[in-house]
Amino acid sequence: EKGGYDYFMLKEIAEQPKAVADTLLGRTDGSGSLTLDEVRIPANVLREVGKVVIVACGTAFHAGLIAKYAIEHWTRVPCEVELASEFRYRDPILDQQTLVVAISQSGETMDTLMALRHAREQGAKVLAICNTNGSTIPRESDAVLYTHAGPEVAVASTKAFLTQLVACYLVALYLGQVRGTKYADEIRAVVRDLGSIAGAVERVLETMEPVRELARSLAEKDTVLFLGRHVGYPVALEGALKLKELAYMHAEGFAAGELKHGPIALIEEDLPVVVVVPSPRGRSVLHDKIVSNIQEIRARGARTIVVAEEGDDAVVPYADHLIRVPVTPTLLQPLVATVPLQVFACELATARGNEVDQPRNLAKSVTVE
Ligand code: F6R
Repeated sequence: EKGGYDYFMLKEIAEQPKAVADTLLGRTDGSGSLTLDEVRIPANVLREVGKVVIVACGTAFHAGLIAKYAIEHWTRVPCEVELASEFRYRDPILDQQTLVVAISQSGETMDTLMALRHAREQGAKVLAICNTNGSTIPRESDAVLYTHAGPEVAVASTKAFLTQLVACYLVALYLGQVRGTKYADEIRAVVRDLGSIAGAVERVLETMEPVRELARSLAEKDTVLFLGRHVGYPVALEGALKLKELAYMHAEGFAAGELKHGPIALIEEDLPVVVVVPSPRGRSVLHDKIVSNIQEIRARGARTIVVAEEGDDAVVPYADHLIRVPVTPTLLQPLVATVPLQVFACELATARGNEVDQPRNLAKSVTVE
C-alpha cells in the first residue's frame, strides 16, 4: 500500500501534484473565475464579512499564516490567525460579521474543534477547510471546503498542507471575487495561474536528488535554522517543524527581518541556515533585503542553503547550496518552496535512523487538549 515507496511520507510527498490538481478540480475555470457554490455561505453574507479569523494547529496553522497574506491582499478584509489552543482562552472579539476559518486535515483536532465551538457560540460563521469527509470539524461548521489530498497516513503532514494552501487561496480569491476589489484583474490572473501549480510542484520533485544528498551530509548536525520573509516566513516555520518532528533536531524558523533583533547571535561557523527567498519580481524590496541577510549570515560563517526562484541570479554568489523552485506568482510561492523542505526533513530523518512515518511521541490526530 506504500506504492513502492519505503515510507508513506515519500509516497505522500510524491502525490502532491495530484493532490493540488484534485483540490482545484471543478472549482476554477480557464477564464479566471471561481465556483465555490459548495461553500454554501451566501454571497451577501460574504460581502458583509468584516473580519476573518483563522484557527488551526501545527502545520495547518502555518497554512493559516500564509492565508493571511492572501486574504488581506486580495480582499482588503482584516485577517487574524491564531493557534486554536490559545484562541478561546483569551476572550476573542467575534460577532456575526466575523468569518472564522478552521483548518484541519483530520477534522478531529480537539483544540480546533473547541475553538470553532466557541466562535459559533459568539455568533460567528465558521468555514472549515478539511481533508476528512464527515469528520467532526466540518460537521459542526456552517460550511466546508474539502481538500482532496486523499488519506494522509504519515504523521508528518505534507500533501494535506499543500492542499490546505490551495483551499486558503481559493477562499481568499473567492472572497475577493464576491466582494469586488481593485485587484479583480490580479485575482483572475492568479486563478488562471493556479492551473499550472501542479506542474510546477512536479518539476520541483524531479530535482530533489541534490537536496537529499545535502540532507545526508548534515545528519550529524544539532541545529538548523530557517529564515524567510512575507509568505516565506511561514514556509520557514513549516520547514523547521518538519525537521523537529522527523529528525528530532533543534530547528527554528525566523522572520529574516528579525535577525538583527536577536537570532543573528546564534550564527556560528558552519551552522546550516535555510533561507527562503521571495521572488525578485513582485516584492523586489524584500528580495533585496533578504539577499543582504544572506550576506550577513554568511559573513559570520553560516552555511547557506538558499531556496530561490529560477532565474534569480542575485543569490548565487552567497549560496553554499542553491535549491531552485519554479517562478510562481508571489503569494503562491509557498506551494513550491515548501516541497524541498519536506524532502530535506524526510531524508535527514532517514539518515539519522528515525522512524519516518511514525515519529516518537506524536499522534496523527490529536483528539485531546
Ligand atoms: C505536523 C502535523 C501537525 C498537524 C496538527 C493539526 O506535520 O501533522 O502539526 O498539522 O496536529 O492537525 P489537523 O490538521 O489534523 O488538525
